[in-house]
Amino acid sequence: MSELLPTVDDTRAFGRALAAVLRAGDLVVLSGPLGAGKTALAQGIGAGLGVAGDVTSPTFVSARVHRPDPARGGRLPMVHVDAYRLGGVRDPLGEVDALDLDATLEESVTLVEWGEGLVERLSDAHLEVRIDRRDDETRVVALVAHGGDWPARIPAAAAVDA
Ligand SMILES: Nc1ncnc2c1ncn2[C@@H]1O[C@H](COP(=O)(O)OP(=O)(O)OP(=O)(O)O)[C@@H](O)[C@H]1O
Ligand SMILES: [Mg+2]
Repeated sequence: MSELLPTVDDTRAFGRALAAVLRAGDLVVLSGPLGAGKTALAQGIGAGLGVAGDVTSPTFVSARVHRPDPARGGRLPMVHVDAYRLGGVRDPLGEVDALDLDATLEESVTLVEWGEGLVERLSDAHLEVRIDRRDDETRVVALVAHGGDWPARIPAAAAVDA
């Protein structure tokens, strides 16, 4: 499945809709080139989950925990990770371990930007949300199920082996 996202608001709305199927223990890898809209999508997911705090691109912090805000109907924490910086370090897998994501994974929704090749081993299944920029600056999003029950939960997602 792929869907056209003409504007940043469409990207956020896609994230809000996706949040409705997310639950504790989910690992979501947001992939796509610089400026694709990964953080915008994370903002939409955060809004859909009803979490507290602005979802931003962290400059120095690689992982941020957003508590559920009961006033916004929030039930689950969201952990938002930006692994971009880790692309350039000597031991990226060690840095991922140092973030201690497995301590929060089970009770949270964990979203990781730039996580391909780094975080898949945290879980036996994950959902990949791939955003691409087109020449006219619109975006296209595709969902790819990697194992687990993702294909049943999101029938439109293309399924590949975990
Ligand atoms: N359809 C669209 N979806 C998402 N962002 C869009 C869209 N059209 C334009 N934009 C703009 O593109 C930028 C996307 O920024 P965002 O920080 O979400 O990308 P990112 O993939 O997280 O970037 P980075 O690789 O730096 O983490 C924003 O300035 C946003 O306004
Ligand atoms: Mg970003």
